[in-house]
Amino acid sequence: MALTEAPLLRALAGDRPDRTPVWFMRQAGRSLPEYRELRVGTRMLDACLTPDLAAEITLQPVRRHGVDAGIFFSDIVVPLRLAGVEVEIEPGRGPVFADPVRTAADVDRITAIDPEGLDTSAIREAVRLVVAELGGTTPLIGFAGAPFTLAAYLVEGGPSKEHLRARAMMHTDPGSWNRLAGWLARVSRTFLDAQHAAGASAVQLFDSWAGSLSQADYCAFIKPHSAAAVDGIDAPVIHFGVGTGPFLADMRLDGRADAVGVDWRMPLDEAAAVLGDDVTVQGNIDPALLTAPWPVLEAHVLDVLRRGSAARAHILNLGHGVPPETDPAVLTRIVELVHATPVEDPAVTAGVAG
Ligand code: CP3
Repeated sequence: MALTEAPLLRALAGDRPDRTPVWFMRQAGRSLPEYRELRVGTRMLDACLTPDLAAEITLQPVRRHGVDAGIFFSDIVVPLRLAGVEVEIEPGRGPVFADPVRTAADVDRITAIDPEGLDTSAIREAVRLVVAELGGTTPLIGFAGAPFTLAAYLVEGGPSKEHLRARAMMHTDPGSWNRLAGWLARVSRTFLDAQHAAGASAVQLFDSWAGSLSQADYCAFIKPHSAAAVDGIDAPVIHFGVGTGPFLADMRLDGRADAVGVDWRMPLDEAAAVLGDDVTVQGNIDPALLTAPWPVLEAHVLDVLRRGSAARAHILNLGHGVPPETDPAVLTRIVELVHATPVEDPAVTAGVAG
């Protein structure tokens, strides 16, 4: 089978392949014992920048679960580390920056770094190793953080609940905000281009924290920068956010997104009605149900499949990342169920979907 015939790439092109493609955000990571074993003694960002390690971790869930895509093992802050920004990922917490970017002078300092000049050789090498191993049948998805989600960490200096400082900067100093977000878009673009050039077949832009914004602020201060991060890229684009129901149609980035990722809050048939019939939907198993008894989870997965059939095409995923405590056997079982369920076969799903 040629890679272009892979179910994930067909679904991104708007076709309905014979089976619904499935992969999981955060499939490469702590839910896998083989991941935890490999990571012992290596800091997260060092693991990301060690090509054979990053490649092996990327491949682990593909081998174990039989998912329809690999997602490159890295992190949204890796290109910032490559830009010389002092950042670490603290276990159980997330990205932490030594020097938060809060003032106009801070923005001047960081944006003086040339975003196209990063040394992405470790990234390209890791992607090449993965793509060689996948053997031309399973696509690899590259990814980057969207400017807002990156800024939410960078301005705060670490994880926060409501991203107040980043949201305040947009309004108190829009000039600095736009310079910072524009620079972050170029940093993420460099990261995407490196992965795509080395063989990633599709890319996903993660705007995990966009849901803290109003639609008006999203459109005025975020959307142009997210659009710039993927504009003209020669690969299908998936755009994902959490809590973006109130402005889901804007997540299409004026047609630049081939697929929009939907979290667990909005049923996919409703999402498809908002998004229209010229974009693919991705989602949206509720991660909380991964610990539910199998019959409950099974009915939920079949309901997601049925609702997803309202869109032009559907890529099955979770509504957000795999929680670390997830039993990996449950993920494998979901893949088996999705692959065994014929696309658009109401007879299979009608009984359980209610
Ligand atoms: O499997 C995959 O999805 C590929 C790899 C991947 C990671 N991070 C690995 C990782 C991807 C695509 C990301 C993206 C990412 N990183 C996002 C967007 C997606 C999302 O989940 O919303 C965000 C917000 C980050 C920032 C970040 N990095 C957080 C919040 C954390 C968790 C901190 C913790 O320990 O709870 C990280 C660390 C991280 N990134 C881990 C992994 C596997 C855990 C590191 C570890 O093993 O200790």
